[in-house]
Amino acid sequence: MTDKQSMPLILALPKGRILKALRPVLSHTGLEPASDCLDESSRRLRFPTANKDLDVVRVRSFDVATFVAYGGADIGVCGADVLMEFDYPDLYAPLDLGIGGCRISVARLKERKGEEAPEGRSRLRVATKYPAIARRHFASRAINAEIVHLHGAMELAPTLDMADVIVDLVDTGSTLKANGLEEIETIAHVTSRLIVNRVALKTRPEEISSLIERFRQALTSTSLPVNA
Ligand code: PRP
Repeated sequence: MTDKQSMPLILALPKGRILKALRPVLSHTGLEPASDCLDESSRRLRFPTANKDLDVVRVRSFDVATFVAYGGADIGVCGADVLMEFDYPDLYAPLDLGIGGCRISVARLKERKGEEAPEGRSRLRVATKYPAIARRHFASRAINAEIVHLHGAMELAPTLDMADVIVDLVDTGSTLKANGLEEIETIAHVTSRLIVNRVALKTRPEEISSLIERFRQALTSTSLPVNA
């Protein structure tokens, strides 16, 4: 059997906008991965870092929580949206990194005169990549939600008559605007969190605590903009 204790720890990072926002944080932790980690055209998935005892894996944002929950990675960074959707008991989220700020919202086609607003109805068809969050949200409003589970481009669903509303991340609002939609309700504000596998925290407490501390210090010792 592999002696996990002697293996490098694995840090899972998400592709996309969080990875860009993380760049200054990583450089302040002194744990910068090999430069092609930040180049999304690179096909490599695992990267060495400035610390020989830590490797980085680059995965989809939703998968960071799964890699850490199942112990493939010991520690990771993901949006609070992903934690709200999966609610894995094996994850501990000790630190809000304050980056990647956005919100999970409900949006619909821009109101047109004479049309009934969908939010007044008792049944709604909802296109989303967040079925659990959407179900909970509409249940709390006594609305019967039929979920259309998509993995992207859900802004198309109301225009193509596949759904009454969408539940999705909104940052600048430009994707909604470009697709003729408007935000009608904010479900939650979201920032990125450092997450840790609880078993790894028990079996390698010093190494994991020191990594958490490095991230904490990188946030406090710099003037990183919150919600960058
Ligand atoms: C997210 C989200 C929206 C868009 C919102 O997608 O799903 O489509 O960003 O951002 P905006 O308000 O600044 O326009 P993302 O680009 O993360 O890609 P994804 O669809 O692969 O999740």
